[in-house]
Amino acid sequence: MRVIVCGGAGFIGSAFVRDMLAEHEDWEILVLDKLTYAGNMENLEPVASDSRYAFSKVDIADPHAVREALSAFGTADALVNFAAETHVDRSIADARAFLTTDVFGVHVLLEAVRDHGIGRMVQVSTDEVYGPIRTGSAAEDAPLNPTSPYSASKAGADLQALAHRVTYGTDVVITRGSNTYGPYQYPEKLVPLFATNLLEGQRLPLYGEGLNVRDWLHVDDHVRGVEAALLHGSAGQVYNLGGGHELTNKQITAAILAALGRTWDECVERVADRPGHDLRYSIDSTKAARELGWVPAAVFDDEIKNTVEWYQEHIEWWARLKHSDDFEEWVDRWYASRQGIDDESPTHIAQESRG
Ligand code: NAD
Ligand code: TYD
Repeated sequence: MRVIVCGGAGFIGSAFVRDMLAEHEDWEILVLDKLTYAGNMENLEPVASDSRYAFSKVDIADPHAVREALSAFGTADALVNFAAETHVDRSIADARAFLTTDVFGVHVLLEAVRDHGIGRMVQVSTDEVYGPIRTGSAAEDAPLNPTSPYSASKAGADLQALAHRVTYGTDVVITRGSNTYGPYQYPEKLVPLFATNLLEGQRLPLYGEGLNVRDWLHVDDHVRGVEAALLHGSAGQVYNLGGGHELTNKQITAAILAALGRTWDECVERVADRPGHDLRYSIDSTKAARELGWVPAAVFDDEIKNTVEWYQEHIEWWARLKHSDDFEEWVDRWYASRQGIDDESPTHIAQESRG
């Protein structure tokens, strides 16, 4: 099988490339990645000398560059798209790159899949497109109710993909994974940020009351879910991939502290809440279990410890990223924009307006 993997230098995309080459002897993979701040060739180091792997620096929002790369690769059986701007806080600060990559870039890929006769496209989406879920869990037919510029862009991509299925008959499958954790995650997201802050003796900036709930999915389970959707999914279908492990931010913070033997009072700092901060995400993944035979296998209590240990053992991997000008500038800008904001933040307005 010949597969194009967009965004393959990021956290989940690189795990997909590493795992699929290890698992499938007959696969050949071409990675297309723009190498934004989140793209990192070190994530692909373990497969760098594999003759079945190739890399091309391409922006998915550049139709000409995408066309050239696909023509050079020749016949492809599938394209799996992980490429996206992915950090909610960055989308709040400036959404432009989110619209360009997450919406227009996906449009470019859908057109390219059609023009090049690629057998199937998998669009990797997120549980955030359903918006906050007060009770129960969202199934795939739940209404889309995105609330951040990030999730709204991802929802836009999902709708474009489904429209291409109906209008042009494109074979496209969508996966919607939940909050993912594991090695090689850029240290701006909760798990790697908190683990590396502790390792550097910095405090953990917990937003608001820390009562927001996220469902945690190990990266290897996420990758297996995308693989199952690619190999066994039905065209035009959406598959939720939930970790089945919902925790408040306080609970996951406590798990990270415990993994490093640290205490709450010495390490956690409550900071102003994220505007429009969705209270809870929860998805129903029974369709993936029934139709793809996919269920998450990771044991959270073990894997969160292994993940924290990975960051402990790979300081050289994250220290360079965390102490880059880009990252430090971003953190300063974000906290400057949040100065003096109290609990009358738009989060509460958003939650009240939804009843
Ligand atoms: P990431 O931010 O770690 O990596 C994104 C990758 O996309 C990087 O390699 C980056 O260079 C590349 N990229 C960005 N813009 C590009 C462009 N214009 N052209 C080509 N490449 C570009 O992201 P991730 O956490 O690995 O997420 C991968 C996908 O999974 C995303 O689509 C995201 O929405 C989805 N997802 C992530 C999570 C999570 O918790 N991380 C959960 C559910 C779904
Ligand atoms: P994040 O890892 O950014 O993922 P997402 O916003 O896509 O769910 O955040 C996970 C949760 O952790 C979310 O509720 C926001 C919260 N959070 C903090 O409390 N402090 C932080 O510094 C970050 C980055 C996130």
